[in-house]
Amino acid sequence: MYPAQYLSRPWLVHIRLDLSFRQAIARLWPSVQLGIQSHLARAIIPDTGEICGLAISELIYRIVFLLVLLSCAATLRAEGYSPQGADSCLPCHGKGMPKSATAIFLTKHASRTDPDSPFASLQCETCHGPGEAHVNGRQRGKNVPPKVIFGPKSTTPAQVQNQICLDCHTDHGRLGWMGSRHETADISCASCHQIHRERDRVFDPLAQQETCFNCHAKRRTDALKTSSHPLRFGNMSCSNCHDPHNGNNDFLLLRSTVNETCYLCHAEKQGPFLWEHAPVAEDCSLCHQPHGSNHAALLKRRPPLLCQQCHSPQGHPSTAFTAEEIEDSFSNRFLLGRACLNCHSQVHGSNHPSGATLHR
Ligand code: HEC
Ligand code: HEC
Ligand code: HEC
Ligand code: HEC
Ligand code: HEC
Ligand code: HEC
Ligand code: HEC
Ligand code: HEC
Ligand code: HEC
Ligand code: HEC
Repeated sequence: MYPAQYLSRPWLVHIRLDLSFRQAIARLWPSVQLGIQSHLARAIIPDTGEICGLAISELIYRIVFLLVLLSCAATLRAEGYSPQGADSCLPCHGKGMPKSATAIFLTKHASRTDPDSPFASLQCETCHGPGEAHVNGRQRGKNVPPKVIFGPKSTTPAQVQNQICLDCHTDHGRLGWMGSRHETADISCASCHQIHRERDRVFDPLAQQETCFNCHAKRRTDALKTSSHPLRFGNMSCSNCHDPHNGNNDFLLLRSTVNETCYLCHAEKQGPFLWEHAPVAEDCSLCHQPHGSNHAALLKRRPPLLCQQCHSPQGHPSTAFTAEEIEDSFSNRFLLGRACLNCHSQVHGSNHPSGATLHR
């Protein structure tokens, strides 16, 4: 349930200002009330007497300050902001109503103590834009939509929607948003995020995947293959490897290369090794399909074919094997089971003094 103060507040308390104005005033207001500024006021305005125990200079100071506040409020009214903030909206979007918006009060966005939250400034209209026309229209039964609508049926361009979120969220986490594949494909923040929910689905490993699968359907099939990361059990999610906002990295990965992303959890594969296997140091995805595979260990192909993609048929065993050879060599060490790995078991690199050929 939302706190009672959202429903009954004198309008002056609802003066909602743009960020810089608001912050300046938030800082000044307590000192105005305490009269700390009276020294400053006296310095600027000559003291000529007292009214009701207050120095005239201080009185003038307070009046000027109040006028500034009022004019800010008037500007916002002129821009079409409703006079009572959330209280203008809640009669129609309150608890239990068809388009209820009250779940937002359970989230960080509704904090009134955090000076950066939408509810510390223009409240609902921080995101949905000036709402008086919608309020007045709806009260008269007319279909006047709000300025900014989010969600799949929205007619507001994705860029306009996103700019509202980015006004507050261009911190380190989203520096790479501009120019990322999602941004250039006109994906809106609200196609993944839910604002009117106690818990946004992106923070739940399973619900997050469902969101991604809506648009990346092939990844669902991958996640169900015999070998895959433990996505389907909710022990991991896409965001363990991807940062959907960060276009600075290829494939929106968490780290700048595929390998660095894998090392986050498979640090032992980073080495250093006395005998490196070149493709391992270069790119894990040369051999592995990180989203899932029907070959063991997320391999792209089954050995020996995997190895034979790169190892030429010259010299020792890495000749391509034909069906004939397979037939009469059921015990062929080069083919069966772990194939090349029967002997070259240290495929990620070896630290054995004589492990040059990755045997040990
Ligand atoms: C007099 C009643 C009333 C008031 C007051 C009101 N709304 Fe609405 N609003 C509605 C109705 C009815 C709808 C549903 C329109 C529909 O289903 O097409 C709606 C829809 C919306 C939508 C969704 C639009 C969509 O198409 O999905 C948003 C967002 C919205 N209102 C925001 C606000 C905000 C913000 C305020 C306060 C500034 C507000 N409303 C005040 C009646 C009202
Ligand atoms: C931080 C930005 C933000 C704030 C603040 C915000 N909204 Fe929304 N609103 C959204 C987004 C994004 C959606 C799209 C649906 C979703 O994400 O849940 C939405 C959807 C809606 C809808 C449509 C819901 C539906 O079922 O189709 C209504 C109505 C609405 N908001 C009203 C309000 C009201 C009233 C307030 C103030 C109490 C408010 N919003 C505050 C961002 C915001
Ligand atoms: C007026 C500023 C403002 C606007 C506009 C705004 N946010 Fe926020 N948002 C915040 C603040 C403040 C927090 C809390 C940050 C914290 O505590 O780390 C927050 C938190 C979040 C979180 C994390 C929630 C959590 O539970 O950790 C998400 C996700 C988010 N916002 C998405 C959005 C999206 C999407 C939009 C646009 C529809 C949006 N925000 C618009 C200020 C804003
Ligand atoms: C493709 C889906 C997707 C889109 C589009 C998206 N996000 Fe996110 N967002 C996520 C996921 C997933 C997480 C959770 C990451 C995690 O678990 O660490 C997240 C986390 C966040 C957080 C909280 C964690 C943090 O990094 O501070 C904020 C704030 C946020 N997103 C804002 C935005 C804004 C603003 C936009 C639009 C410019 C946006 N997101 C677009 C998927 C998305
Ligand atoms: C173990 C880490 C990991 C996880 C978990 C992961 N990815 Fe990826 N993803 C990668 C890597 C690495 C690449 C780039 C190289 C490649 O495709 O082999 C990539 C590429 C992609 C691409 C672009 C290339 C393409 O094939 O279309 C998409 C889209 C994608 N991932 C979506 C997802 C989704 C959706 C999820 C969650 C269901 C997910 N990923 C989970 C590591 C991961
Ligand atoms: C609303 C649709 C939509 C949703 C939801 C969505 N994506 Fe995407 N994603 C796209 C589009 C469109 C592209 C552009 C590239 C393409 O596939 O052609 C893309 C591209 C990507 C890429 C490839 C980036 C590159 O550089 O090649 C990755 C990785 C990715 N998305 C991950 C995710 C993850 C993780 C989620 C869930 C948190 C997610 N996406 C949710 C639509 C979506
Ligand atoms: C967030 C941690 C995390 C990241 C990042 C990660 N993995 Fe994993 N990986 C796991 C876990 C957990 C398992 C164990 C799965 C199990 O035992 O079922 C695993 C297992 C594997 C396996 C063995 C699968 C099997 O069936 O035996 C391979 C191969 C693998 N990961 C490759 C990669 C590659 C390649 C990357 C980088 C693209 C990567 N991983 C990134 C956590 C991670
Ligand atoms: C040259 C191909 C190749 C490359 C490149 C490669 N791997 Fe592997 N990987 C394999 C093979 C083959 C197996 C199966 C090993 C087995 O069955 O003993 C495997 C198994 C694994 C396993 C599961 C078994 C284990 O040893 O823990 C993990 C995890 C793994 N690889 C991670 C990685 C990571 C991380 C990278 C990148 C740093 C990488 N691999 C690069 C071929 C490769
Ligand atoms: C993406 C290409 C690629 C794949 C796939 C690959 N390798 Fe390699 N491998 C190389 C390269 C490049 C070298 C370094 C050759 C050099 O230094 O002359 C190498 C070196 C080796 C060496 C050491 C040879 C020497 O002379 O030092 C062995 C053994 C080896 N690979 C076995 C395997 C096995 C077994 C597999 C399959 C699990 C495999 N390779 C898959 C590219 C690959
Ligand atoms: C029966 C064990 C065995 C199997 C199975 C095996 N190898 Fe080898 N491989 C060796 C030995 C032993 C050497 C070292 C030969 C030497 O030092 O002259 C070697 C050397 C190599 C070299 C280095 C070649 C060179 O000229 O120095 C490569 C590359 C290689 N193997 C790849 C493979 C591939 C690919 C497969 C699977 C098709 C495979 N091996 C299967 C035992 C094996």
